[in-house]
Amino acid sequence: MSFRTTTATDYVEDVSPGSGALAPRSWYASSDAKSLSLNGHWRFRLSATADAEDDSFAAEGFDADAWTEVSVPGHWVLQGHGAPIYTNQRYPFPVDPPRVPTENPTGDHLRVFDLPGDWPSGGGSVLRFDGVESCARVWLNGTDIGEFKGSRLPHEFAVGHLLKPSGNVLAVRVHQWSAGSYLEDQDQWWLPGIFRDVTLLHRPVGSALDFFVHASYDHVAEEGTLRVDSDVDGRVTVPALHIDVAAGEPVTVPVRPWTAETPHLYDGELVTEGERVPLRFGFRTVELADGLIKVNGRAILFKGVNRHEWHPEKGRALDLETMREDVLLMKRHNVNAVRTSHYPPHPAFLDLCDEYGLWVIDECDLETHGFTEQAWRDNPADDDRWTPALLDRAARMVERDKNHPSVVVWSLGNEAGTGRGLTAMAEWIRGRDGSRLIHYEGDPNCRDTDMYSRMYVDHAEIERIGRGLDGGSLKRRQLPFVFCEYGHAMGNGPGGLADYQRLFASYDRLQGGFIWEWIDHGIKDERYGFAYGGDFGEELHDGNFVCDGLLFPDRKPSPGLVEYTKVIEPVRIEGDGSDGTVRVTNGYDFADLSALAFAWSYQVDGETVEAGTLAVPSLAPGESADVKLPAPPVDERGGERQWTVRAELAEETAWGPQGHVVAWAQLPVREGVSTRVAPSGGPVPGERLITLGPASFDARTGALKTIGGVDVTGPRLDVWRAPTDNDNGAHWQPDARYGLLWRKLGLHRMQHRLDAVELGEDPLTVRTRVAPAARAVGLRTVYRWTSDGTRLKLTVSVAPEGDWTLPLPRLGIRLGLSGSADRVRWFGGGPGEGYLDTKSASMVARWESTVDELQTPYVLPQENGARADVRWAEIGGLRVEGDPSFWFTARRWTTEQLDAAEHLTDLVAGDTVWVNLDHGQHGIGSQSCGPGVLPQYQLRAAPAEFSFVFSEIHG
Ligand code: GAL
Repeated sequence: MSFRTTTATDYVEDVSPGSGALAPRSWYASSDAKSLSLNGHWRFRLSATADAEDDSFAAEGFDADAWTEVSVPGHWVLQGHGAPIYTNQRYPFPVDPPRVPTENPTGDHLRVFDLPGDWPSGGGSVLRFDGVESCARVWLNGTDIGEFKGSRLPHEFAVGHLLKPSGNVLAVRVHQWSAGSYLEDQDQWWLPGIFRDVTLLHRPVGSALDFFVHASYDHVAEEGTLRVDSDVDGRVTVPALHIDVAAGEPVTVPVRPWTAETPHLYDGELVTEGERVPLRFGFRTVELADGLIKVNGRAILFKGVNRHEWHPEKGRALDLETMREDVLLMKRHNVNAVRTSHYPPHPAFLDLCDEYGLWVIDECDLETHGFTEQAWRDNPADDDRWTPALLDRAARMVERDKNHPSVVVWSLGNEAGTGRGLTAMAEWIRGRDGSRLIHYEGDPNCRDTDMYSRMYVDHAEIERIGRGLDGGSLKRRQLPFVFCEYGHAMGNGPGGLADYQRLFASYDRLQGGFIWEWIDHGIKDERYGFAYGGDFGEELHDGNFVCDGLLFPDRKPSPGLVEYTKVIEPVRIEGDGSDGTVRVTNGYDFADLSALAFAWSYQVDGETVEAGTLAVPSLAPGESADVKLPAPPVDERGGERQWTVRAELAEETAWGPQGHVVAWAQLPVREGVSTRVAPSGGPVPGERLITLGPASFDARTGALKTIGGVDVTGPRLDVWRAPTDNDNGAHWQPDARYGLLWRKLGLHRMQHRLDAVELGEDPLTVRTRVAPAARAVGLRTVYRWTSDGTRLKLTVSVAPEGDWTLPLPRLGIRLGLSGSADRVRWFGGGPGEGYLDTKSASMVARWESTVDELQTPYVLPQENGARADVRWAEIGGLRVEGDPSFWFTARRWTTEQLDAAEHLTDLVAGDTVWVNLDHGQHGIGSQSCGPGVLPQYQLRAAPAEFSFVFSEIHG
């Protein structure tokens, strides 16, 4: 016979949400009621199991002097106790709900506090926890006041009767694993701890309990209707609108509406008998109408990001400044929407979204992805025993966040399968708040939702959805589409964003999407720079899949964000450059263009020769105007010409300085002419060297050795690139995983066979065949060198042989220069990297940088840093002109070293700068979780010819 004993820690594995907490309510800061932050240093003791220690530590007088300390808010695993674990969808424990491992790191937290002298004696007090992962039991002054789960949700306890003026002992026992962990299988680090604020709130007699601000906007009458439903009688005042009404009484007045583009907020107050509560709200109406998500009567287009809360040192314990930085970065990069993947964020983040203007999909703290392990059997989302926990989570989210105008959609959670629990959540939400729409991606039949949502589907399917040809249930066919995750920003990429955006612009049903994801969750680490999954010795982990953001862990924008900014810019500027007219289209949904100023400049060979302002009418959303450019400046030089037109902030705004560029375009006027090299004399053979113009070559191999005074390690054909995360792809993606196939074919170990060195009348010709061992495929490669006495021209001809079924990673030459090479100048795309399907933001101009700055610091090193469309580049005393233009890359390590590196710290500068001059680069795609490279961006193995002209730079 076997039996399980009942123990004091049974609550840990109990599917219920907890006990003892108060009913959920809105989160607000009172104007006059006192509060006391309990953040700071807490005494801390870590145990290996949930029941290793009894609860005597909670008693008054317990001596915790031998304990260590942690910061609250914080995660103990980021403060030197235990270690973080990263898994994507696998539970790091056996799937046997609701049981969790006996090895269950448990952190006892202790804090002794006095009440401030002016803490009122009357009324009550509430202790609020804004976030604790994953399960906590709480004692105040020795009394057990309850336990709770729901890590990223607030829990409040009435504690007034337990408080004393001084020496209050607050004891919190936090378990890393609990039944709640089964509901929190989001793709992120498992980080136990009290990671959000702990606050004691005084509740005066007659204080507000909960209230619901209903502020709708009638776009026809241009009036707003305000009604504040309050649990406690009170008055509502809004001075700017001369409103002074009883709570619960509706009032309709002319107002300025709130939108993410025009975030107009009103300040008011709810005054109850015992308390004054500030109100900051906006008038707006969200509805599903004509099959579209509309706000204030207009369909909106989400240009969004999925945001996990992340800080490279503090994990999910974010301070206000970091939250503000996120919002400002989003606004400055044209992002207009956030999905709070995959849990409600710190409440202050939503205040910022209200203030600066972002559409928010607020997502519930629910994911049960690991149940795919057993084909969703026993999925808590479809098991009545768990429904109370699901409803508790829905209620805690909705009640906390219901007064934010920025929240336009509630999301039931992420990747939790389908089931009755989700339906129950949706029904409860609709009953409580009919003023917002509901999102959930996991159900293709859209049973509970107001929009059809998918993740990572390819362009072709998006187009079918846009056209309404994707089938599905009747309900689904009538719903708008939201791409809740796409553009997987892992490593170099994502590619193909512009192609998606064109589809969003073409079909009304496609209401935009949210890039996965905002920031890399790299953990700052002395050993590695930034650590990812596996770096803490985890038994199971998913490697660098946790680093898939548009920001690097230190919040520096990655090229992916720069690309996205350009792709989603709210103003379209188009034209052909030579006809003197530019077409400007307002792509905002609500704002006119009055906040923007337009500027033009005119470049000859990348150098601006004249610039001025452009008068553009303040177009309404969706409107276009053809605007005349000035007469092109007279310039006698014969070079390449183009217009650059920019839309900039006319004045400083809350989120950006005057002059901040929100949109731009370049309109080519005339192409440049490539430098001619008229051969003047052929190669001269010597004993060990061949000379040709300024250059010398190895007489035996034909390898270039010097150009004038510059030593060069022989340029030769090169096709390998350190595979990107997108090249390698995810194992569940259906497209060919070229990164793996390239390696299998041997493209990283090409052998160069020398067939002939021919000294002709003009050219020096070197014939070779480049191919991997064991394979029949090869690239017949001929290098032809000519010179006019000062310049040296190389023409490379490549003819594939055999049956090439794969695209090439790159096609170009690699050469080595002295390690002293540092400064780089170029005329071409910049300032950042750009590949075939990621170069919308690459601006053609003259740029300057250094070899080190050319590197893009992807947390897992991989191909990076290529500058696109380069006409010429100067580095290490050499000038290189391309015919046609080329991709330019320079590094202090070889491609092979880059490929071998696992962390940034593995990249060590050598004594050579390796330069790639590429005729072709395979596109990037987003196959790390999404489609591969679109056919038009693939680099097919095909006959090719390309040239470079080298010259030494003097002085
Ligand atoms: C999705 C999931 C995200 C993340 C992403 C891949 O399936 O919703 O949380 O795992 O894939 O990075």
